Amino acid sequence: MSLLTLIFFSSIISRNMDSAKKMLVIYYSFEGNTRLIAEAVAHEIKADILELKVKNDIKTKGFMKFFWGGKQVVQKKTPELLPFSKDPAEYDVIFLGTPVWAYTFAPALRTFFKDIKIKDKKIALFCTHEGSPAKTFENMKKELEGNDIISESDFADVLKNPRQNSLDAKIWAGNIANLFK
Ligand SMILES: Cc1cc2nc3c(=O)[nH]c(=O)nc-3n(C[C@H](O)[C@H](O)[C@H](O)COP(=O)(O)O)c2cc1C
Repeated sequence: MSLLTLIFFSSIISRNMDSAKKMLVIYYSFEGNTRLIAEAVAHEIKADILELKVKNDIKTKGFMKFFWGGKQVVQKKTPELLPFSKDPAEYDVIFLGTPVWAYTFAPALRTFFKDIKIKDKKIALFCTHEGSPAKTFENMKKELEGNDIISESDFADVLKNPRQNSLDAKIWAGNIANLFK
């Protein structure tokens, strides 16, 4: 191969690498279900990952979590989050995940929407639940105006069936990532 051909091909490769979309998975998880999906997605598409952590999160994992969590949702609370390790502004495609709490997204996401203004991004939404996504996606989309919502996917009873849910998440994320290759 001549030197000229080599330079030609390496310039094509580096141009393609420049145009590769940067992808970030952002999620909140109280009990691990949403984390499992987020990690499966990030692993499958080699995306960076940002977990939203609440500074003083609900202390109980027992029945009272429904009371304290539900109360926060109804009162539209925005619990303080720990500092982020990644800046969403630096990414082109964002996967955003939440557990369903009282028929909608968890309060940590409300804080995220309040604190971080994301615009002109491609966004794939996901949620985990034990029944239905209810109004979760609808309400997330209202908070994300000015972005392009490219997909939505919900996962039920994740930790009761981790293998299947993880596989479903990987297939979903892989199909989305392929759109940007
Ligand atoms: C405060 C609270 C409210 C919930 N509300 C709902 C609900 O409205 N619908 C539903 O299907 N599941 C509901 N769940 C169950 C969670 O959505 C489900 O277990 C989810 O996968 C948990 O995700 P995580 O483990 O990432 O926190 C609720 C759980 C909590 C703690």
